[in-house]
Amino acid sequence: MERIGDLLGKATKLLAEACERPRFEAELLLAHAIDKDRNYLILHESDPIAREQADHFWQMVHRRAAHEPYAYIVGKASFYDIELVVEKGVLIPRPETELLVERAAALIARHDLQQIAEIGIGSGAIAIVLARKFPHLKIIATDISETALRVARRNIEAFGLQGRITLVYSNLLDAVEQQVEMVVSNPPYIEQGVTLMKDVAAYEPHEALFGGKEGDELLKAIVDLCIERKIGYLACEMGYNQRERIERYLQARGVCEIAFYRDYARLDRGFTVQITDSG
Ligand SMILES: C[S@@+](CC[C@H](N)C(=O)[O-])C[C@H]1O[C@@H](n2cnc3c(N)ncnc32)[C@H](O)[C@@H]1O
Repeated sequence: MERIGDLLGKATKLLAEACERPRFEAELLLAHAIDKDRNYLILHESDPIAREQADHFWQMVHRRAAHEPYAYIVGKASFYDIELVVEKGVLIPRPETELLVERAAALIARHDLQQIAEIGIGSGAIAIVLARKFPHLKIIATDISETALRVARRNIEAFGLQGRITLVYSNLLDAVEQQVEMVVSNPPYIEQGVTLMKDVAAYEPHEALFGGKEGDELLKAIVDLCIERKIGYLACEMGYNQRERIERYLQARGVCEIAFYRDYARLDRGFTVQITDSG
């Protein structure tokens, strides 16, 4: 039987090419395989582990060494104050999207919003956190990916929010007739042809990442939709290089109440707008 310390040493070497922090990821995977926390590993370096657990660990290490994201291997991802089930076919929620949640939450609180929509729910990250923050809030959430809707349903049910988050298989809000007061969205916004890290490009769903030839096509479609339907508020994540184009687009449509925000790396990452009757 192999000992914890030896397993970690070997796995760290195997993960060196694929991971920025190979030892850390080896520890996470081993802790997951034996259902303990990382501290346990440090205190029990010379303990042997059961054969099936070691086999499971090596399977996971090989998947990670082939660049499969950690979240898909263990089937879960942390976001804001919750943990979500994820699987291949649904985007792994990103830390910067927590900033979008904060911006959307500020609008909901300030204007006492009761009914909003999310376009592109993915795993359910944004809608679930917002529903937990605002116990009165109702959310209609769409996606064009059946996998995303299935995973979102599972996460919504795990938090007992099925009465407040309604899932709709729909392009944008095409299949949603109800009037909503705000749209929140982290749509696909990457420009066609951009080369992504192998972990992302080879494993995450392309329909969740690429927004079209320019990248901002869906963002613009969402702006148009909000104007047409007289939806008062919009909060969106966007690409770090899209601010100028989005600003011009919004201004050309008479939308002037625009607030852009930056992410943890100080890059432009999203915006909120207030849409009045004139635009
Ligand atoms: C960047 S992911 C965001 C997922 C999740 N909201 C998050 O922030 O982690 C974009 C999501 O939008 C969905 N999507 C792409 N095009 C769409 C469209 N035209 N209408 C509705 N959803 C769309 C994708 O399937 C994907 O789940």
